[in-house]
Amino acid sequence: MGYNVAMKILVLNGSYRPEGTTTELARSFMAGAQAAGAQAQMIMLRDRGIGYCTNCLQCYGFPGEGIAPCSLKDDMDELIPRIAEADGVLFASPVHNGFVTGLMAVFWERLSWRAARPAGSFLRSMGIASRLQDKVRAFGAISSAGGFSERLRRFCDDGTPWLKSNAPLILHGQWVGDMYAGAELERMPQTGPDWTRIFFLRRLSAGQRERARGLGAAMAEAIKSGRLEPTTIATILPPPLRWAMDLVAALRPPYRVAR
Ligand SMILES: Cc1cc2nc3c(=O)[nH]c(=O)nc-3n(C[C@H](O)[C@H](O)[C@H](O)COP(=O)(O)O)c2cc1C
Repeated sequence: MGYNVAMKILVLNGSYRPEGTTTELARSFMAGAQAAGAQAQMIMLRDRGIGYCTNCLQCYGFPGEGIAPCSLKDDMDELIPRIAEADGVLFASPVHNGFVTGLMAVFWERLSWRAARPAGSFLRSMGIASRLQDKVRAFGAISSAGGFSERLRRFCDDGTPWLKSNAPLILHGQWVGDMYAGAELERMPQTGPDWTRIFFLRRLSAGQRERARGLGAAMAEAIKSGRLEPTTIATILPPPLRWAMDLVAALRPPYRVAR
């Protein structure tokens, strides 16, 4: 199936530095997406008013159709419809404490139950379904680290797996790729004090920019292909594994009744 209307790709950037490495990589990503025919726009979350979730549960309990309401009135009311109208969304974040930035996490707290609802049960635990099922979207992530190299990604990139398990299910779509820009250095540290300044020695390489560009092109091509599949709780596990795990859950229910 061809794509005959303009593809819209949205970059949600959780960096605190508008000219930092995450932003530079996000720009390369957008250039790749644009070269492949997509419209790409970036939103710096730091420039928006995004208050802390109060856990009032108005969104969680909303039974209606579409984006659930929120008791806070701020820029989330503009940002969530921007996600809903997008064909692809890239989450870009620096690695902070081995995870995404606090800003990105705050954004997700405000997003999740407005964009998804509790639905059915999954392995005898709570199920979840997207409220944004009008189209199937492409998702990806870029994380940029200042201390740990590419080879050490597994020790410091818990953000990407977390985004990968949440975005396709909550925002309805498929994960198309991600990139970890590990620390590459201006020069090898020579002394003890040098090692303590490693964030300042960090430089983006041409190869990293090129990978970000490639990810942008890949997302646009995935949208163009028309073959993206939605992720639901039914598709997370292959059926035989799900039946086996459901049997285990029946024999050993995940909840206990509090006494
Ligand atoms: C609070 C804080 C925590 C950080 N934690 C990590 C970390 O766990 N691992 C790492 O490799 N770099 C860490 N860094 C370095 C950043 O990932 C790095 O500076 C990154 O390039 C920042 O992205 P930016 O240029 O878009 O601001 C941390 C930086 C800060 C300020």
